Amino acid sequence: MAGIGTAGTGTTDVRQYLRGLAVFAGDLPDFDPDAAPDRPEALFLDWLTGAVEAGVREPHAMTLSTVGADGTPSARALLLKNVDRHGWQFAANAASPKGRDLAANPVAALSFYWPQQARQIRVTGPVAPEPAGNSAADFLARPPGSRAEAVAGRQSQPLHDVRELERATELALERVEREPGLVVPEWTLYTVRAERVEFWQADKQRRHTRLCYLREGAEGEGWTRGRLWP
Ligand SMILES: Cc1cc2nc3c(=O)[nH]c(=O)nc-3n(C[C@H](O)[C@H](O)[C@H](O)COP(=O)(O)O)c2cc1C
Repeated sequence: MAGIGTAGTGTTDVRQYLRGLAVFAGDLPDFDPDAAPDRPEALFLDWLTGAVEAGVREPHAMTLSTVGADGTPSARALLLKNVDRHGWQFAANAASPKGRDLAANPVAALSFYWPQQARQIRVTGPVAPEPAGNSAADFLARPPGSRAEAVAGRQSQPLHDVRELERATELALERVEREPGLVVPEWTLYTVRAERVEFWQADKQRRHTRLCYLREGAEGEGWTRGRLWP
């Protein structure tokens, strides 16, 4: 198909261009919600391994949505660090904008979309920082370049001169090599204790299948689940 026209009607061209793009193309996997496991992390891991096998690139990249102190929402991509019965984990600098959002409003939404399978997963719940030892272990498991980036710091602040970044990264890398046990104190492993987890499977006839897990019970260790209208 032709690209977006730049002359003439402008907006209409973009509208038509977008309308012409394929959606939910190719073979889609089956999803039988009646056969789903009792716990959402079990189904998540089942879908994640399915995504890897289907060749989804970076299936562990997700969108983290947060809310700032003034109520402004923010979303950005992040890597998933772990999933178990305690929740979904990611790591970030607590001094970054997302870290400040989480300090002001310790709740988050995570969303995954795997286009090859037309699958979406949405996770929401309160967020808590892990103890410093767990965050330090996560930091030290990162490759030297990633640690150096965090040591250089100032994530999301305006960059006025790219040479400043090059110099700071070089110095940070030297420091990481000199001090292999160095940990950035703001580096934080966060856990989203999911309250709601929704699995969405596209259907070419638009009868999409949605299965929603909700946490329940006095101890909050149980889950109910049910289907949603598409
Ligand atoms: C695929 C992908 C993975 C990313 N993983 C992380 C991550 O694990 N931690 C992180 O702090 N930023 C990660 N980033 C960068 C963030 O999207 C974001 O630009 C950065 O954290 C600053 O966000 P903030 O200004 O909202 O705090 C990733 C970006 C992409 C595209």
